[in-house]
Amino acid sequence: MKIGVISDLHIDREHIEQRRYEEILIGETKKHKLDILLIAGDVASHYEITTRFLEKISEETQINVLFVPGNHDYWLKAEEALSTKDVYEHYKQLPQSILESPFIIDDEWAIVGHSGWYDYTYADARFSDEKLARGKFYGGTWQDKLKINWELHDRELSKIFADKVKTDLEKVGDRKIILMTHVVTHRRYAVPMPHRLFDYFNAFIGTSDFDDIYQQYPIKYSIMGHVHFRYQFIQNSVTYICACLGYEREWRTDDIYTEIQNTLQIFNI
Ligand SMILES: [Fe+2]
Repeated sequence: MKIGVISDLHIDREHIEQRRYEEILIGETKKHKLDILLIAGDVASHYEITTRFLEKISEETQINVLFVPGNHDYWLKAEEALSTKDVYEHYKQLPQSILESPFIIDDEWAIVGHSGWYDYTYADARFSDEKLARGKFYGGTWQDKLKINWELHDRELSKIFADKVKTDLEKVGDRKIILMTHVVTHRRYAVPMPHRLFDYFNAFIGTSDFDDIYQQYPIKYSIMGHVHFRYQFIQNSVTYICACLGYEREWRTDDIYTEIQNTLQIFNI
């Protein structure tokens, strides 16, 4: 079985037509004859755009496209009547989403995942909780603070989402696990410190609430996004994969086709 991984497509951010992202991803999925495509969040900065994209990719590839929302996928504009919780509920019922609904591949394998949330533990210890919770540093504001409102402290939310993953892991018995989150769950994906800005902003990158999950469950692959890195490594027989397309200014070429091709990671189970 061939599984493709990609994240952080941000299809509504650049001047590039959204249809280009679709065409290329559909083309690559077919070319590699993927059985499952995993998208680890940040398709777009609005749920309607994200939803349309997921539906299109599913329709045109006819394979299982599985998704966890990234922080951007939860963003709302000020004038919208929906709450962040409404957007969460919307994603929960979307067939592509694996929020609170693990995907069983066969007797041997299952895919479990969630957005996850950041819990500030990756920041430098010199910042107080109050300073981190404001999300403001050096004139910059962490945009989730303005565009998302869970009505909960980020630390609390991180725990709740990690607990949802534990509940789902219990549902799939002793199958080997492909875990997918949006935020990072391994410190190797934090921005190296000391760093002028990320000593602070690493607070919003990852969580430590998954640490015991790796001890307690047979996680074989751990997929994540959010940091716009493309990097994988193996530790304690877990393969960690981060396959972010990221923003055009972060690309090595100016060609979207080359970038998507280079970003998509494929593994076999
Ligand atoms: Fe992103």
